Amino acid sequence: MRIEVNGAGHNVTSPPLASLLTVLREEMDVTSVKAGCESGGCGACTVLIDGQPRRSCLTPVVTAVGSEVTTVEGLGTPDSPSAIQQSFIHHYAMQCGFCTPGLVVAATAYVNGGGSDDLDSVAEAISGHVCRCTGYNKILEAVAAAVKSSEFDLSSTAVDKNTVVIKTGGAV
Ligand code: FES
Ligand code: FES
Repeated sequence: MRIEVNGAGHNVTSPPLASLLTVLREEMDVTSVKAGCESGGCGACTVLIDGQPRRSCLTPVVTAVGSEVTTVEGLGTPDSPSAIQQSFIHHYAMQCGFCTPGLVVAATAYVNGGGSDDLDSVAEAISGHVCRCTGYNKILEAVAAAVKSSEFDLSSTAVDKNTVVIKTGGAV
């Protein structure tokens, strides 16, 4: 069995009904995909399958054969983050970062799908994602700003233009 993840093919040795989450994390070391509830309720494991957000904890890996799986690593790089990754950084839309990869890929699907910048619409789109840190407002602002195709200056932030410590590696 072979699946495509972030543009590269991988041979899978796990059983066909193993979760995509398990295969990504334990066979491929793609640990940005988080194991939260592992029952479909938190959104931390969300990946894109052919551009659509899917809970990888509920996805048997065999169902991803023939599709393109995209995780947050496939959206941008630390040196060249995607517009949504930049928007999350610019708006301080993360704290511990556990929920962030899932939210970023879900937001990517929302924006690419022509989502509105209306905050209620954004909230509905990400309503299946649990964040225990941020209170959600900054996430909503980040997604709405990305919809507006705002340009983000990574040398400044939404909060303080003079004190900037931004690292775009790791989970984001
Ligand atoms: S770990 Fe998949 S939805 Fe929570
Ligand atoms: S930033 Fe910590 S769970 Fe969302």
